Amino acid sequence: MHLPVSQSSSGFVAEHVRDIPRSGIRDFFEIVQSMQGVISLGIGEPDFVTPWHIREAAIYALERGKTGYTSNLGLLRLREAISDYVASDYHVTYDAATEVLVTVGVSEGLDLALRAILNPGDEVLYHEPCYVSYAPSIALAHGKAVAIATQEKDEFKLRPDALRAAITPKSKALLMNFPCNPTGGVMTADELEEIAAICREHNLLVLTDEIYSELSYADTHTSIASLPGMRERTIFLHGFSKAFAMTGFRVGYACAPAPLIDAMMRIHQYGILCAPIVSQEAALEAMRRGRPDMLEMREQYRLRRNFLVHSFRAMGLPCFEPHGAFYLFPSIKSTGKSSHDFAFGLLKEQQVAVVPGTAFGPSGEGHVRCSYATGMDQIQIAVERIAEFIGKK
Ligand SMILES: Cc1ncc(COP(=O)(O)O)c(C=O)c1O
Repeated sequence: MHLPVSQSSSGFVAEHVRDIPRSGIRDFFEIVQSMQGVISLGIGEPDFVTPWHIREAAIYALERGKTGYTSNLGLLRLREAISDYVASDYHVTYDAATEVLVTVGVSEGLDLALRAILNPGDEVLYHEPCYVSYAPSIALAHGKAVAIATQEKDEFKLRPDALRAAITPKSKALLMNFPCNPTGGVMTADELEEIAAICREHNLLVLTDEIYSELSYADTHTSIASLPGMRERTIFLHGFSKAFAMTGFRVGYACAPAPLIDAMMRIHQYGILCAPIVSQEAALEAMRRGRPDMLEMREQYRLRRNFLVHSFRAMGLPCFEPHGAFYLFPSIKSTGKSSHDFAFGLLKEQQVAVVPGTAFGPSGEGHVRCSYATGMDQIQIAVERIAEFIGKK
């Protein structure tokens, strides 16, 4: 008997891939894109175009005929600039020759890190609600994703007791992201030290996704990699997408002790070869002269955040003041609606897109994610429409 083609073809797909769910955000945005006149607070990327001098560096690289491969690790000049930047801003030193790997965004860096460290069935702990790719990336690397729910009352910080409760003999690594997508939560140096102590005690490796770290609105940002005894057990993942508005360049980096970078590089060199040379040249310009632009964009995000926090509270939708990233994660429990019904109702009735909190894991229920990587004029209209939707206007 011949099976229908679609059925027989899907039989070729590996089981662990078949089990990966489609992204909740993607389904939602397919609906958004099919509608007219929608104001989107749903987007997770800067509304700013990459600063001109960075784009110019990419154009100039092409003019000079920079069109080939680079070293698998990335351009040495870029790795040196990254090493200097991480030393000055994060207070951890990495050797540019052996401890820095240029990747295709944090996305590739995370995938490499997981594939380099996990044996089948090893557990990776992560705090939730979290970035949509974490659980699937762990599963694709044959690991077991173990979510630790964080709470609104704790401003979605990872609590030491919750971490302790989740650890088993199979726990291999802890994946962290502060400032956090989707909550905007951050952790102080003292709070991180409590987590670091548990990681040292239980011999856990830490993967720290620092993608929003420049967008910290409190005075300082501390990376867990900089705490005593942590450098040797941390893979520091970072990139240019958010702080320098360079999502489309697809460039990031991983810093870690040489044996870990070497393991990641062996996967990277066969799967990717190297990050695109034009993007690396642009990233070098961002490292050398991008700081003023980054600070200017951060100030715009800060003003928008202040406006949104004030507006949501005035409407009676509680939200803590996020100290980083460009997201607000208000509670919509008082409306009596689920996250899904709130987001779909708001989209249908008022043409405003926000993301249901459950897209970031079950513990996001009762919340929606509102991105303020959108112009202030649009944010103001969105706020009026949301007030109308919940009957507070
Ligand atoms: C927490 C987090 N990590 C990683 C990424 C992906 O970053 P990149 O563009 O560097 O691959 C995103 C993008 O939204 C993110 O929010």
